[in-house]
Amino acid sequence: MIKTLLYPFKKFAWFKRLNAKITYELLAKHIPAEEWHFMNYGYNPTEAEGPLHLEKVPLQQYPLQMYHYLAAKTNIENQTILEVGSGRGGGAFHIASYFKPLFYTGMDLAHHAVNLANQLHKLPNLKFIQGSAEQIPIETESIDVVINVESCHAYGSVDQFLKEVMRVLKPGGHFLMVDFRYAVDMPRLKNQLANCGLTMLEEENITPHVIKAIELEDDKKKERIQRLIPAKWQKLFSEFAGVVGSKFYNNLKDETRFYYRYVMVKPLSN
Ligand SMILES: C[S@@+](CC[C@H](N)C(=O)[O-])C[C@H]1O[C@@H](n2cnc3c(N)ncnc32)[C@H](O)[C@@H]1O
Repeated sequence: MIKTLLYPFKKFAWFKRLNAKITYELLAKHIPAEEWHFMNYGYNPTEAEGPLHLEKVPLQQYPLQMYHYLAAKTNIENQTILEVGSGRGGGAFHIASYFKPLFYTGMDLAHHAVNLANQLHKLPNLKFIQGSAEQIPIETESIDVVINVESCHAYGSVDQFLKEVMRVLKPGGHFLMVDFRYAVDMPRLKNQLANCGLTMLEEENITPHVIKAIELEDDKKKERIQRLIPAKWQKLFSEFAGVVGSKFYNNLKDETRFYYRYVMVKPLSN
């Protein structure tokens, strides 16, 4: 009922911004679970990428892999990294410890998510700040790599975000992004990326690898939802979390939504 009432507003930029802000503030404030560090749907690597062997199997292995195999697309070591939409900070923590950047700044719109990330993940080369993707509080041409994981679908203006990415990146810097769109909205995203001034290096449809990750993680995810989420919110939360059988999962399966991975570079001169 509420969803039907809100549907007509979804096309407005102000509504998308407000919706993202309220949703992620509430989630971080009311579910500060220590063991919930990621909010993406997860990734199961290709055969060529091979499995990821870590000393300890992470609780949210597949969402961590989404970050790992995205970061592996460029050199991170000794680089200055900005993540836009860092959420609860699990991806930032993995990249900052595994790939050894000089410094990693995770930025998110939701104050509560930023506070939670700063509490959960402490490293000398990592910090989380509050800020908007559409007005990034970072100096011009100061960043080597911008990372963006399953976040920009929620922005009021993706064009404005990409303008900001172009501004903060050093010439030769990389933009690594993964996100989903409805099939009907894919041409718009393609167009936005083609016209933002960055050069496309890789564009991959990773939908089958996200579907597989959802399936492989499903039992653990459902167990966590039962344990951590109040009973009256479990159904709604299962949809949000994209369990097998949810609308999101079904949309990926029937190809009404796609999940893509992009690697782009800022040209050395404009
Ligand atoms: C689906 S979550 C993904 C979080 C994280 N990247 C991960 O994979 O665990 C989307 C995140 O984008 C953030 N977000 C939404 N709109 C934003 C904006 N305009 N600027 C910065 N962050 C934003 C939300 O607060 C949320 O933390």
